[in-house]
Amino acid sequence: MPDTTKFVLTEKQLPSYWANVLPSLKEPMAPPLHPGTKQPLTPADLAPIFPMALIEQEMSMQPQIDVPGEVLDIYRLWRPTPLFRARRLERALDTPAHIYYKYEGVSPAGSHKPNTAVAQAYYNKQAGIKRLATETGAGQWGSALALACTLFGMDCTVYMVKVSYHQKPYRRLMITSWGAEIFPSPSDKTNSGRAILEQSPDSPGSLGIAISEAVEDAATHPDTNYSLGSVLNHVCLHQTVIGLECKEQMALAGESPDVVIGCFGGGSNFAGIALPYLLDKLNGSPVRLLAIEPTACPTLTRGNFDYDFGDTAELTPLLKMYTLGHRFVPPKIHAGGLRYHGAAPLCSHLLHHGWIEARAYQQLDVFEAAMQFAKTEGVIPAPESSHAIKAAVDEALAAKQEGRKRTILFNLSGHGHFDMSSYENYLAGKLENFGFESELKQ
Ligand SMILES: Cc1ncc(COP(=O)(O)O)c(C=O)c1O
Repeated sequence: MPDTTKFVLTEKQLPSYWANVLPSLKEPMAPPLHPGTKQPLTPADLAPIFPMALIEQEMSMQPQIDVPGEVLDIYRLWRPTPLFRARRLERALDTPAHIYYKYEGVSPAGSHKPNTAVAQAYYNKQAGIKRLATETGAGQWGSALALACTLFGMDCTVYMVKVSYHQKPYRRLMITSWGAEIFPSPSDKTNSGRAILEQSPDSPGSLGIAISEAVEDAATHPDTNYSLGSVLNHVCLHQTVIGLECKEQMALAGESPDVVIGCFGGGSNFAGIALPYLLDKLNGSPVRLLAIEPTACPTLTRGNFDYDFGDTAELTPLLKMYTLGHRFVPPKIHAGGLRYHGAAPLCSHLLHHGWIEARAYQQLDVFEAAMQFAKTEGVIPAPESSHAIKAAVDEALAAKQEGRKRTILFNLSGHGHFDMSSYENYLAGKLENFGFESELKQ
């Protein structure tokens, strides 16, 4: 297929299972700990805020987990998603590299997040839960869960990081259009939110704070559960539908990637595209798996690999992960979905043992790559996803320097249609870079 640009699968080729890497890991993962007893967590500890089906998936040793029929029915609204060969970007870079991107922005919410939102809403509905509470950064996750809840006839409450609540009014309106209620976080709705507001009334908020509010909401209402948009094993698991489709599509293209790239907030879209390839790597494939984060919130490249809380108010279990500390409030970069102090324990474990790589980029370099992508491939990407674009461009330029072909696959995790104010600021020269050290000195 010499000039094919788009590699598409039929609905029949939609994967019927999620790939679970837990049983294949070479090194055992450190267990999550109970925040009070510091003992390994039991399923019963999680039961107040999660349904048992998801708790089982969190710890499952089954290599494949069937996607329920009702979830597949909803996936079919936008899945399988297309894989593109970025021929125009390749030409602009004058590179011998072949660049492929998996486009998750075709979902109704505009990102990869509904892949797990739909699954989580389904299992909660099955367990008799009426309402889900969650946090959201840039609003992608909140809108995905609002969508999933409305499709299953459930209520939804979203605590949106305050800086993004004001930066992204249309994400907020999308969430309310799908029938969810939404509060800027820190809010006065929870003890956790009120405590932060008392200390710093102008707090821009953070994912860590918003998680505390949503967990508290769920834990204090019997008909309500908590839903997390990233980080946990079951979330990474649901996202493997991305990488499983990619494998079929790369086979249609007659290639297999030398490097697989995803941007990294909590780790779920990176995990989604990378974990099916990790299974090959564990069996000797040389494929490189590359996670990209912002220099403003360099969890993987500058954080410590240690037990830490997933939230600011210390309500969650202790997770062994790369972390900048659960009280770290990242600078107000426009990639709001990457402003998280921690990282998926599974991805952290893989980084610690050398199975994956991580790299950090500055905001202005990321927007420059986003503009080049928009002008060549057409899609205006989400600022989060643009971190992966910048890495793909750098990998393609490295291939050019070496004078060798390199096959690059990256996850275009979402479109930027609700992020236009960040493009406006970039074009007006108003965006700035943020380093990690400057934050530490403040
Ligand atoms: C478009 C997009 N990509 C990536 C992310 C980062 O999350 P994760 O690392 O869980 O994929 C977000 C989070 O909101 C997002 O909205």
